[in-house]
Amino acid sequence: MTRRQTVDEADLTRRLDAMSLKEKVTLLTGGDAWTLTPVAAAGLASLTLSDGPVGPRGPSFGGDTPPALLFPSPSSLAATWDEDTAYETGRLMGLKAREIGVHVLLAPTVNLHRSPLGGRHFECYSEDPHLTARVTVGFIRGVQSTGVAATVKHFVGNDSETQRMTYDARIDEKTLREVYLPPFEAAVREADVWAVMAAYNSVNGTTMTENGRLLTEVLKQEWGFDGVVVSDWQAARTTEASAVAGLDLVMPGPDGPWGDALIAAVEQGAVPPAVIDDKVRRILRLAARVGALDEAAGPGHIPVPSNVRSRMRQLAVQGSVLLRNDGLLPLRPGTLRKVALIGPNAVRFATQGGGSAQVTPEHVVTPLDGLRRALGEDIEITVHPGVFPHTKLLPLDGGTATDPVTGEPGVRLDYLDADGNLVSDEHKDPANWWFPIVLGPGVAELTVRTRLGLRDSGTHRLSVIGTGHFTLRVPGHEPLTHEQLQEGDDIAALLLNPPSHTFAFPAVRGETDIMLSVRPQRNLPYPVTLLGLGYDVPRGTDEEELEAAVTAAAEADAVVLMVGSDSDTEAENVDRTTLTLRGRQDELVEQVCAANPRTAVVVNAGSPFVLPWAERPAALLWSWFPGQEGADAIADVLTGTEPGGRLPTTFPAAEADVPVLSTRPVDGTLDYSEGGLIGYRAYTARGTAPLFPFGHGLSYTTWDYEDFAVTGDIERGLSIRVTVRNTGGRAGREVVQAYLDPAGDEPQRLIGFAAVEAGASEVVMASITVPAETLSIWGAAGWVPRTGPHRIRVGRSVADLRLTAAAPRPS
Ligand code: BGC
Repeated sequence: MTRRQTVDEADLTRRLDAMSLKEKVTLLTGGDAWTLTPVAAAGLASLTLSDGPVGPRGPSFGGDTPPALLFPSPSSLAATWDEDTAYETGRLMGLKAREIGVHVLLAPTVNLHRSPLGGRHFECYSEDPHLTARVTVGFIRGVQSTGVAATVKHFVGNDSETQRMTYDARIDEKTLREVYLPPFEAAVREADVWAVMAAYNSVNGTTMTENGRLLTEVLKQEWGFDGVVVSDWQAARTTEASAVAGLDLVMPGPDGPWGDALIAAVEQGAVPPAVIDDKVRRILRLAARVGALDEAAGPGHIPVPSNVRSRMRQLAVQGSVLLRNDGLLPLRPGTLRKVALIGPNAVRFATQGGGSAQVTPEHVVTPLDGLRRALGEDIEITVHPGVFPHTKLLPLDGGTATDPVTGEPGVRLDYLDADGNLVSDEHKDPANWWFPIVLGPGVAELTVRTRLGLRDSGTHRLSVIGTGHFTLRVPGHEPLTHEQLQEGDDIAALLLNPPSHTFAFPAVRGETDIMLSVRPQRNLPYPVTLLGLGYDVPRGTDEEELEAAVTAAAEADAVVLMVGSDSDTEAENVDRTTLTLRGRQDELVEQVCAANPRTAVVVNAGSPFVLPWAERPAALLWSWFPGQEGADAIADVLTGTEPGGRLPTTFPAAEADVPVLSTRPVDGTLDYSEGGLIGYRAYTARGTAPLFPFGHGLSYTTWDYEDFAVTGDIERGLSIRVTVRNTGGRAGREVVQAYLDPAGDEPQRLIGFAAVEAGASEVVMASITVPAETLSIWGAAGWVPRTGPHRIRVGRSVADLRLTAAAPRPS
């Protein structure tokens, strides 16, 4: 149990008393999108908040974000099945946050993998509440050990993205308590989290920012949460209802439903002053914890360790899941002369998913860099994309585009009035995925001018991200036009999933001056918009690229084939519509495996996909979105480093087998009528075999489960000790998993796990402590202990349980 950090409450009272009502209420809405207004009278500095789950980005979003450390995505972290690793990850992120002046990290995301189509699947940990809770606790303790607040989100029922602002999740009390609330409860009770984010959606008829039952009765009163409840960005829509329900902080600001309206509500007696004081006290308490009260009070400076990049690489290794291996892996460089590196993700490596979690990585190791380093210079590596499955192009890079005015890498942006006169101009670097555009009142049109240095002749592609009417002028060609407009006025949709259009034009190698005219969409309610530019070099048709890839595969001694998804396929604000890999990737795998049986397929994706060819390659490795160092980690695993990961979620054999597939609300309602039957519990209950079960993952060695002992009892908690032997010829890591197999119809469920390491032939003991709370069930009057006979089963995955014993009953 984390000891609650004590704060001098009398000191907070003095500071609170020094503030006027206006100052108090001003503090309760962001001063801008990412910071709170400082209050000199209370000695309160401005607090800075930042996303997020793959590392702190800093107080910005979109084009102008500074470079950051990009960690493996949360589904990879959960695949480590290791609370200590989660702690270390949180700690590294916390230290980085401190370094860039961030007080509050908007992570972790602990919603569950209810449907594999969920757009933020990659950003959540698992389909299992227990595994999610353990990773959550480790991560939060790590972040907060640095004096930075973690923010557990999104409380609660935000397990999918379709109509996320408005849907009503209907979740019965037992399911809430046993499945969706436990990660939040553990965050509060065990990890003493300092902030909670209230979700966009409703639960059982009330939107979460107004849900007094969950925010006040459960979170604050029952669990004793003494930190700050912050709204998800623009989730607060009312003044009184949200203020009295338990929401403490409205983000972003400075506008919003509180401000003067809340002052008026207090003055009219509709909102008691004590309610305001409680919120302010919570923010002051948060400020005390993160060292933002009186400059001197801050925790001392601890630098980010200089080996952070090699640690990030190890984290990605620990999360990698070896799903199958016929013996091709590890690759032995001494036996190879020529290796084919094939696949769309080999040339466009997916390091992260899309949405508010996104950061601009300081650098990215490419798969070719990683493999070259691991294999050495003597082995020839040929690279072929095979197919192009992406819906968007990569940002136009400064190596291709030059500002014709300054000669710097990038573009020249001219703002024109209605008569075509120049209002202002500026230089922009489109290397980020888009940049913000301020639409001043006199601005009617923008032109983007750039000199493209084309390295090849052929059909070039230039894409435009944003909304409006676009005209592309390329010398020697008729102008190309396109109009893309946003329907509705959802700014989050515009920022998180901006539309993109690709123009294609033939051009020969050399320099070409192009001009893009943009008449921005003006009927939207915001005075800013965004613009992004993408580019792609001439490439063959899928048919041509497939043929080239297959030829290269046939000529190689071994093939590394990388398929998967990208940050457009898996992104916030949209759910996926299919579990099939985009484009002709399945066909590519089939053809490459047929051309060369010595093929290792690496799937580079944050969420499960259906893999109809899973038995075809000699080896199958799941890399997730592994962050900036991930390609080195993949090469490490391919050449012999023990892959540490186990699946935190079930991989289905077919879409039809998925217990909860649809994320589409019906008449605004998402009915969680399946209760606790999500993920492996549903597969077990139905007797359906998945492609790869929950908990599955191979080691480079083999393990025997020799013995186990269960002490304690089912009512007061259990102590499980499992003896495992490394029966292979090398050292390895095993994740020993313990499941409760209840009597009756209830499916078995994870109750504990422990990772152990052992050298060749060594025997080790895994100890798993299962507290009483993990075993209890929600009854009509609250938590009750289990009665009746139960079995405890231990093994390598939910479908590979090696030993079984009766759970002791109280004597
Ligand atoms: C997301 C949050 C995020 C916030 C700030 C919202 O769209 O749901 O997870 O922290 O934006 O970027």
